[in-house]
Amino acid sequence: MCGIVGFTGKVQASPIILEGLSKLEYRGYDSTGMAVNDGGKLNITKAVGRLNVLENITKGGATMPGFAGIGHTRWATHGVPSDVNAHPHFNKDKTIAVVQNGIIENYIPLRQRMEKKGYVFISDTDTEVIAHNLDWYYGKYGRDPLKAIVHTMLRLEGSYAIAVVFADHPDEVWAVRKDCPLIVGKSGIGSFAASDATALLKYTRDVYYIDNQIISKLTPDKIEFFTIDEEPTTVEQSHIDWDASAAEKGGYDHFMLKEMYEQPKTVRDTISPRIKDGNIVIDELGLSDEDIRKIEKIYIVACGSAYHAGVTGKYVIEGLARIPVETDLASEFRYRNPIFVKHSVLIVVSQSGETADTLAALRLAKENGIRVLGIVNVVGSTIAREADHVMYTWAGPEIAVATTKAYSAQLCAMYLLAMKFARVRGVLGDEAFQGMLEDLRRLPDQIELLLNNHEPIQRFANRYIAAKDIFFIGRGLDYAISLEGSLKLKEISYIHSEAYAAGELKHGTISLIEDGTLVAAVSTQEDLYEKIISNMEQVKSRGAFVLAVTNVGNTAIEKAADYIIHIPNTNRWFTNSLAIIPLQQFAYYIAVSRGCDVDKPRNLAKSVTVE
Ligand code: AGP
Repeated sequence: MCGIVGFTGKVQASPIILEGLSKLEYRGYDSTGMAVNDGGKLNITKAVGRLNVLENITKGGATMPGFAGIGHTRWATHGVPSDVNAHPHFNKDKTIAVVQNGIIENYIPLRQRMEKKGYVFISDTDTEVIAHNLDWYYGKYGRDPLKAIVHTMLRLEGSYAIAVVFADHPDEVWAVRKDCPLIVGKSGIGSFAASDATALLKYTRDVYYIDNQIISKLTPDKIEFFTIDEEPTTVEQSHIDWDASAAEKGGYDHFMLKEMYEQPKTVRDTISPRIKDGNIVIDELGLSDEDIRKIEKIYIVACGSAYHAGVTGKYVIEGLARIPVETDLASEFRYRNPIFVKHSVLIVVSQSGETADTLAALRLAKENGIRVLGIVNVVGSTIAREADHVMYTWAGPEIAVATTKAYSAQLCAMYLLAMKFARVRGVLGDEAFQGMLEDLRRLPDQIELLLNNHEPIQRFANRYIAAKDIFFIGRGLDYAISLEGSLKLKEISYIHSEAYAAGELKHGTISLIEDGTLVAAVSTQEDLYEKIISNMEQVKSRGAFVLAVTNVGNTAIEKAADYIIHIPNTNRWFTNSLAIIPLQQFAYYIAVSRGCDVDKPRNLAKSVTVE
């Protein structure tokens, strides 16, 4: 995905745009650019590389005077990262410039159509077709920006959020979205458009979450909205109330470390408001007790770490509430023509609320008459607004590409749902339930304890900065957390890793184990202690070094482990929330020692808003 900023106001636009882009770099960072309207002439500067390259070239924006402009930070989908492929893209005489997030799926036929009209393309991007279509329709319909945008939109297939400037409309910025995030807002100095709130929070907390295909016309003093039929319309204003400092590092070396340390608060904020008078109350669930009793099946569909939270959800909901749960990678789910059971619920999990595959799964379920519950972190995001009901994770803005606090909050959402369902369906007794509530309340402090005990893990991690392969194994819930531990390591340290169901390793993959291979064995499920010990012995006998993550008091594992990390004792269903902490720390310290960009790992973006 990419980051977009637009501004028009009473002060110079480029410094504001650059600052906004700096808040969006986590959305993509392989190239950047700006277009600023200087009294009817568009100045366009763009460059491959991080935002600081653009800042240096433009001397912090000083070389780009003007009061209206757009900016972009890119995560390449079509066309390698390069100066030419960087946004903004523009028409032949540089009187129209556009920045885009998303994918124009029919860009090839559109490009061919424009080339037949004599247009010459200079980039390999899909976005450039937007610039030339705007040019065509702008000339065809009396140089009217709204008409040019509407007629261009009618040609586009796929997902997009775009901002546009027209040279002969010097104080206007136009913005429109379809299936990609874009919000607009106004302050005393002017009007803003941005991919998300972090880019404009410094100036205003009153924003408009624009629906698909609503066109916004920004001028210094007002924002007007139009439908695709070119009719004026209105959009309800929303107020953002999370703390601006949440989008700053706050003295930590990395956003990821800061967000790891925010996990106790995140877990508390996700759980506490939903425990009232000894009961779990999820008002936003939208399911009556009768509905819950009738549920025959639950689907949990997501991507990446959110999917891993869903795997935990499967084990916990099936274990506690005895409801069949099917988990699926969203990118697979939508193409396998899934069979929907009548009385079922589909849960989509998403930190950003903008992941294209997850959104597509939501829509497929709704088309089939299935109720959709979203477990989402970003308020007002597309998934949050299209789900039938949304359970927010209240983790606040998560800037690091590698999720930590939002993932931990997703785990808690799964525990709450499982316990609620189990209670309503009469399969969880009061004493056990109250004990679990107590265990939930203790989780934040236990997480804090683990976070503060990071030195041993930091030292251990430094032994493996040159590792080539690291395996994570576990059974049941310990397999679920192994998936997440392995992904954390891969995405920020670039060390290859695999998570394996411990009992499955011997069916082939164990052939990869050789002298010194590190195998992290997670063992928190007491009824499986002995099983995992035998799996540990299997890999040790082939030369592996075994790191064990296990509960305090599990002495049996000492005969098979070479190094042990203990986690405090909690309810068996909640252990993932504790076991993930040393695994996050392990990945973090290895990545830092390897000199990796922990917050903005190569090739990645915070939310993948394309297929
Ligand atoms: C997690 O660390 C990754 N950044 C990635 O796997 C992420 O979880 C996945 O892309 C899903 O994103 P979402 O939660 O915003 O939908």
